[in-house]
Amino acid sequence: MTKKICVLPGDGIGPEITAEAVRVLAALGLGFEMETALLGGAAVDATGNPFPEATQKLASEADAVLLGAVGGPKWDMLPREQRPEKGLLGIRKHLNLFANLRPALLYPELADASTLKPEVVSGLDILIVRELTGDIYFGQPRGIETRNGERFGFNTMHYTESEIRRIGRVAFAAAQGRGKKLCSVDKMNVLETTQLWRDVMEELAPEYPEVTLSHMLVDNAAMQLVRAPRQFDVLVTGNMFGDILSDEAAMLTGSIGMLPSASLDENGKGLYEPSHGSAPDIAGQGVANPLATILSAAMLLRHTFHEEEAARRVEMAVKKALAEGLRTADIHAPGTTKVGTKEMGEAVLRGL
Ligand code: NAD
Ligand code: IPM
Ligand code: MN
Repeated sequence: MTKKICVLPGDGIGPEITAEAVRVLAALGLGFEMETALLGGAAVDATGNPFPEATQKLASEADAVLLGAVGGPKWDMLPREQRPEKGLLGIRKHLNLFANLRPALLYPELADASTLKPEVVSGLDILIVRELTGDIYFGQPRGIETRNGERFGFNTMHYTESEIRRIGRVAFAAAQGRGKKLCSVDKMNVLETTQLWRDVMEELAPEYPEVTLSHMLVDNAAMQLVRAPRQFDVLVTGNMFGDILSDEAAMLTGSIGMLPSASLDENGKGLYEPSHGSAPDIAGQGVANPLATILSAAMLLRHTFHEEEAARRVEMAVKKALAEGLRTADIHAPGTTKVGTKEMGEAVLRGL
């Protein structure tokens, strides 16, 4: 059986951080076949299309996709269809990657890196399950038009009950395998779409009698995440709320450079990428934190290839690098050693 991974470095820090994750995957000696293709701004520059056909083909044929990040100011003025982000949304939709898992886990070594007090975040281990192919991100109609003599911007939030049910099942199953608590986040006091979200979550609950389901309005959830984040086990929410809450949760782990993610379809195929973006402000300097991408590679091992032991080896190697006192700039604190992207990657390789 061939094990094919499509590697999409993308833009900004993307190539720097994926290079380290690729080295880690190669070092495991599991016989992965890795092939690189273009996505995002890099693809726009080369072909005019942020998700070119060659990339569609390679990504469809591969068992898994490893992605850096896309986007940057260079492409922000292009028509929307040609922007890097369109390529990312395109590949998610094309591969039907509706389930985005974003685990926020605090490594004890990084308790001081968080902007929150150590006693608030220590022992943190939560999972955000974000719906990824629906919601206002994909809803039609959308646009900017002139109406009654002025510009009018509009987007459409919608979910079908089957879309809600399938992400709900992923979240309930995840909770069943962890702390057995699921908090569904919505805005049912204002938005009908999310009233349906809450209703469907309630309908699913009897199928998972071991899991305790609760509900929280998104504004309160944003507050509770920084007030008392350990009250949560698994959170499930829609595409837009999940985008925002997962960046917030990232800061609980010390840095957005620590938060991996897996975007999965119904058959175990997945796209694995850090939750952060292309960080144009530090791109090309060799200082970006590669750990979120390396930890995404661990998720790739676990979810697509069922290589649990290898996944744990990678996670342990990350832990070792942190225990050695090595820190990239984003997680650096007095008394630790500041290193660059490559050195951090090398420390993880040593740890393997
Ligand atoms: P960002 O996540 O790229 O950066 C936010 C801040 O976090 C910056 O200060 C950056 O330097 C820092 N940061 C991010 N990743 C880091 C890492 N690994 N190590 C150290 N510091 C890190 O968000 P942004 O600035 O809002 O967006 C920049 C571009 O990235 C935009 O074009 C946006 O559309 C795109 N983006 C892409 C993805 C993706 O490809 N999945 C995700 C988010 C944003
Ligand atoms: C993310 C990013 C993307 C999103 C953007 C770049 C389209 O912020 O993966 O979190 O909003 O989903
Ligand atoms: Mn985001």
